[in-house]
Amino acid sequence: MTAATLRTTRAFAPPHVARPHGPSAPAASADFAALLQVQGLSLEYATAQRVVRATHRVSFDVHEADRFVLLGPSGCGKSTLLKAVGGFIAPVEGEVKLDGRAVRGPGPDRIVVFQEFDQLPPWKTVKENVMFPLVASRTLGRKEAAERALHWLDRVGLARFADVHPHQLSGGMKQRVAIARALAMQPRVLLMDEPFAALDALTRRKMQEELLALWEEARFTLLFVTHSIEEALVVGNRIALLSPHPGRMRAEINSHDFGLASQGSAQFQAAAQRIHDLLFEPETAADAQVQS
Ligand SMILES: Nc1ncnc2c1ncn2[C@@H]1O[C@H](COP(=O)(O)OP(=O)(O)OP(=O)(O)O)[C@@H](O)[C@H]1O
Ligand SMILES: [Mg+2]
Repeated sequence: MTAATLRTTRAFAPPHVARPHGPSAPAASADFAALLQVQGLSLEYATAQRVVRATHRVSFDVHEADRFVLLGPSGCGKSTLLKAVGGFIAPVEGEVKLDGRAVRGPGPDRIVVFQEFDQLPPWKTVKENVMFPLVASRTLGRKEAAERALHWLDRVGLARFADVHPHQLSGGMKQRVAIARALAMQPRVLLMDEPFAALDALTRRKMQEELLALWEEARFTLLFVTHSIEEALVVGNRIALLSPHPGRMRAEINSHDFGLASQGSAQFQAAAQRIHDLLFEPETAADAQVQS
């Protein structure tokens, strides 16, 4: 993180101390439907020269076991939105709620998988990497954490590599470790920021397949960022389209009919084209509600 980033991001004050379980503020009301509610969220970075508005009044609901995708062009604020849901950035306007409670900072109920392959501390073995958040958050003791780490490494096909260090793994394998580490925490929401963008096309497809297979087994709730229309259709059951900078909600698309098997079909191509048109059409027709 650069000094500029540190200076610019509005942080929650006072600094948040993550609690081992559950979100960090008391529930305002027990009357809520969605697991994750993003309500009128405006996010800004204040640089020395000016204030940059990254998103403008973005709202969406993510339900339990949704695979919800944020799709939009570079710079539209997708990563910033994910950071706000993660509790790393405080909104200037609006609110993020998890289980009906306002998010006030990071917590083990929201775990992020990033694009970069270097998100694993290189001095820890693969198993130690997966164990680390479980132990550090006091979710489990070392013995139980080791067992759970091995279980999840097995589920991503890496049990044999438990005792090697990350530099001995390919990029795809490192991302599998990051996914195992995140899922081992059993977060309320798994946050993924373009996790497969740096992989070659074949590995990317394989990782999409594996993620969907893991979801079939574990039915976790996923908030997934991409700027690939095809990836959004394959991975998501619902897609939020964001306008170019600053990001506004442009449309929400129901994409549960599409998966890896439908890629290349006429329907899939038509949906991809429709999304493309919505993303790049002029601002004025921005509030379409689309059902595929
Ligand atoms: N640390 C920062 N300081 C100032 N401005 C920032 C900072 N980080 C992001 N921004 C600005 O906020 C806006 C949204 O950035 P963000 O990284 O969220 O976009 P994105 O949709 O994730 O883009 P990409 O697809 O390229 O990853 C951009 O205009 C960017 O220039
Ligand atoms: Mg980004």
